[in-house]
Amino acid sequence: MKIREVNDNKKQFISLLLLADEQENMVERYLEKGTMYVLEDNEVKAECVVTDEGNGILEIKNIAVVPKYQGKGYGKMLLDFIACKYAGSYSVLQVGTGDSPLTIPFYEKCGFVRSHIVPRFFTDNYDHPIYESGIQLVDMVYLQKHL
Ligand SMILES: CC(C)(COP(=O)(O)OP(=O)(O)OC[C@H]1O[C@@H](n2cnc3c(N)ncnc32)[C@H](O)[C@@H]1OP(=O)(O)O)[C@@H](O)C(=O)NCCC(=O)NCCS
Repeated sequence: MKIREVNDNKKQFISLLLLADEQENMVERYLEKGTMYVLEDNEVKAECVVTDEGNGILEIKNIAVVPKYQGKGYGKMLLDFIACKYAGSYSVLQVGTGDSPLTIPFYEKCGFVRSHIVPRFFTDNYDHPIYESGIQLVDMVYLQKHL
């Protein structure tokens, strides 16, 4: 198993990126400036993209695991890798997500705690309603972990 940084042609992983963020022009907002990592275990099983948000804050903009490999620890391994790699250079690792039972418990299991919300982020920024587990996402919920 290895985790490597991807510098060229990050869009080759678009199908994984869209699993976490289903509107391509929203992915394009952070893909180029972001730092991308992929986790390989024979094949690519997961990816994540992080950005420098200033003031010592590193943000996870996108994280996704290939569907058939979800629930096997790969997502947590990537988060742990990021936390370890950036512990000396950032003070906070944060992530913004919909208020969904598919994602919030995962981040809480990985040591993140809710910090704040951005009201109507999903309804204001996406060109169509986003549903997860049958519930429409409206506000962006931020969770943070101290590094
Ligand atoms: C969310 C996602 C990245 C999690 O990665 P994963 O590899 O499936 O999760 P892991 O197996 O590493 O889970 C780590 C822990 O979180 C728990 N967990 C994961 N998803 C959970 C859920 N929906 N509800 C409750 N607990 C959950 C696991 O049980 C595990 O707990 P444990 O350490 O006690 O065993 C992955 O499911 C995914 O790619 N989903 C689709 C894309 C997406 O929604 N990305 C996030 C956008 S914000």
